[in-house]
Amino acid sequence: MAYRVPFVDPRAHYRCLKAEIDAAFTETLARGDLILRQQLRDFESHLAAFVGTKYAIGVNSGYHALHFSLVAAGVGPGDEVITVGHTFAATVSAIVHCGATPVLVEVTSDYNMDPEALGQAVTDRTRAVIPVHLNGRLCEMDRIQEIAAKYRLVVIEDAAQALGATFDGKMAGSFGLSGCFSFYPFKALGGLGDGGAVTTNDPEVARTIRLLRFNGEDRETGEFHLHGYTALLDNVNAAVLDVKLRHLPAWITHRRRIAELYREALTGIGDLRLPHFGEVRHVDSFQNYVVRSVHRNELREFLRSDGVETLVHWPKPMWEHKGLGLVDPNLVETDRLCREVLSLPMSAETTPADVDVVATTVRQFFSRAVNLKARH
Ligand SMILES: Cc1ncc(COP(=O)(O)O)c(C=O)c1O
Repeated sequence: MAYRVPFVDPRAHYRCLKAEIDAAFTETLARGDLILRQQLRDFESHLAAFVGTKYAIGVNSGYHALHFSLVAAGVGPGDEVITVGHTFAATVSAIVHCGATPVLVEVTSDYNMDPEALGQAVTDRTRAVIPVHLNGRLCEMDRIQEIAAKYRLVVIEDAAQALGATFDGKMAGSFGLSGCFSFYPFKALGGLGDGGAVTTNDPEVARTIRLLRFNGEDRETGEFHLHGYTALLDNVNAAVLDVKLRHLPAWITHRRRIAELYREALTGIGDLRLPHFGEVRHVDSFQNYVVRSVHRNELREFLRSDGVETLVHWPKPMWEHKGLGLVDPNLVETDRLCREVLSLPMSAETTPADVDVVATTVRQFFSRAVNLKARH
């Protein structure tokens, strides 16, 4: 169906940048620069400068950024890696594919890792921690790094949803041994298809990831140093991402403005809980604008029938997907979030008029649904 307010609008996004994207794309193709060329190197150096790290290495997904980061950190069979239950499956799959055991812990009211739960989950097998900066908001990195230092854990940031967000003035992806980004098309910095990157200050980590993404081969010498993967960030994708990176700060400012408008329009309605906003230490990039209600399913259906597209990240806890073979970690808050969270339309193209439509429909839902409480 055609939504009055789509969750994101990739066609409008392309129209805004058409001239710049087409120029980058055709120039790259015309030069025949398809694999490991200057466009990739340029994007990597601009991304590293943006995040504030020495190196950025382009890979073909956020998943591979995580997997390679774990391998480069020496994580393997017998190790435990602590992360949150409230994340995308890729975070956990990366741990499993290293032969390590994922240990899932609880999140706090901002949907991010509870540092206390991290401390309690450490055992003598724990090797690393993956804090996930969900929805464009950083975890409490000072406390997480303190615990990691105490137990000598490697910190690998899952920053797939947080490029450009900061905590204490420091960018996502610049705290840990490495930071992992996704350029999936609907991310704040979205590419032509799948794509990702690792940021790091460690030259050995950078070198290992460059090898892992290119079948283990050192391109300069032709020597294969390890068994790797075919997982480069494509050159044309890098050329387009490089164009878009220049617009990212303005897009984040826009997302924050839309979040502010949502906040003004949605405060004090029913049991609706809104994301944190405006704390001094956090500058969130609002990859997603996530609200909570115990009436989530009815609200979502009401919005859909009125032409407002929403998404749910995620409708059931990961461990309920039997094929993943995960032990139920009994995370009550994570379980509740799966039943209550709802992501409202949010992108660089979302307009104040869209916010009005969404907020009016939400208000209508709660004013009509006077008997909702009785049903829950
Ligand atoms: C929190 C999180 N981690 C990891 C990933 C994996 O990224 P990709 O889809 O690029 O593999 C995603 C992608 O949605 C994500 O949201």
